Amino acid sequence: MTHQFPDNFLWGASTAAHQVEGNNTNSDFWLMENLEGSVFKEPSGSAVDHYRLFREDIARMAEMGFNAYRFSFEWARIEPEEGRFDPAELGHYRDVLLACKEWSITPIVTLHHFSSPQWLIKQGGWEAAETPARFARYCAHVMNELGDLIPYVCTINEANISIGIKKIMKRHELQSGAQGAQVGMNMDRMAQMQKYFEELGKAFGVPHTEVHSFLAPRSEKGLEIIFQAHMEAKAAIRLIRPQTRIGLSLSLYDIQSRPGGEEQAAHALQEEFLQFIPYLKDDDFFGLQNYTRVLYGPDGILPIPDGAEITQMGNEFYPEALGAVVRYVAKHLEIPIMISENGIATDDDTRRVVFIDRALKGVHDCISEGIQVLGYMHWSLMDNFEWQLGFAKRFGLIEVNRATQERTIKPSGLHLGNIAKRNAIEQA
Ligand code: BGC
Repeated sequence: MTHQFPDNFLWGASTAAHQVEGNNTNSDFWLMENLEGSVFKEPSGSAVDHYRLFREDIARMAEMGFNAYRFSFEWARIEPEEGRFDPAELGHYRDVLLACKEWSITPIVTLHHFSSPQWLIKQGGWEAAETPARFARYCAHVMNELGDLIPYVCTINEANISIGIKKIMKRHELQSGAQGAQVGMNMDRMAQMQKYFEELGKAFGVPHTEVHSFLAPRSEKGLEIIFQAHMEAKAAIRLIRPQTRIGLSLSLYDIQSRPGGEEQAAHALQEEFLQFIPYLKDDDFFGLQNYTRVLYGPDGILPIPDGAEITQMGNEFYPEALGAVVRYVAKHLEIPIMISENGIATDDDTRRVVFIDRALKGVHDCISEGIQVLGYMHWSLMDNFEWQLGFAKRFGLIEVNRATQERTIKPSGLHLGNIAKRNAIEQA
């Protein structure tokens, strides 16, 4: 049976600058990756050279059948020193936006995707009271220069990620290899990090406990600062470009409870999502990012069920999570939803095809129930740098040979591209 998606549905894939561009030398991550004893399994280096190859990557997306691309601008490139904006880097991103235009690809631009300028971190990073104003100033500059080409803006990627990180760290103390954050964290290394901590403090010129990069546990105040940054950026962008639709994205699990776990599950929903609604309710869209489910019992998170299929990230293969998250978001937040990330890390691409089909069936059901979903951006367009876990985790619809930077579209990429071309899925 053919299940048609709404007209103008956005079909595409996501990337993040630091994970694909390469040589992002002014960012905090670059510094952390290259320290002695680094917690990163390998440095990002030239990544998948998207900085140079963006034109062909965007052309390939269009040929595959996509009509949208979610990617990020790198703040550390645009503002390498506080208050100094680099016209050449703004010119680069203008070229990326123009390539999207040439290929009729709708750009969805993320203004902050985990990596930050080194100068920001040296001044207190994501725990400093000045950070929202600094972020808003950067966003305003970008929108003044490039806003005419940006229909959708996602201010901050996974603004709530610190909650998942806190949970995984806590659980890792109890059980090695525990699940808890939908992002590449190298917990094995974290345990023996003394040397790295020393180098980290030296590199940023502050005690290592004061290095507040984005992918880290956060105080209550730090969490507020992130959402304040969203509010200030939103206000600044609206003044400059009222036509641009603004949102942010959150990392969300399908939160399920087993008998006796209802209270724990309700608490998780409050902590991971509901508490942020006041900051989001007048956004133009909500960026939803989901990879799996988490089960709660009376004492908290339960282990992944015996016999379940596990992805390279240690997540349960559970594509049905996406539809469930779309439903709970729509129940509490009355703005359109953009699925800004969803995918799995695997070397078995046939499993990605299955994952996509089952996830999209869930999305289609939600749309049939009347929920407004604007688009589906698969994570990721190509295999890339999975943060602390390096290049070994493969999320891509496109394979990249990093020795030659040659790209090969995987069957899953052709599959999702064909769905996009038909704007429909075929399923029982
Ligand atoms: C992030 C991506 C990351 C992906 C897979 C999300 O948390 O936004 O940067 O690569 O999950 O772990």
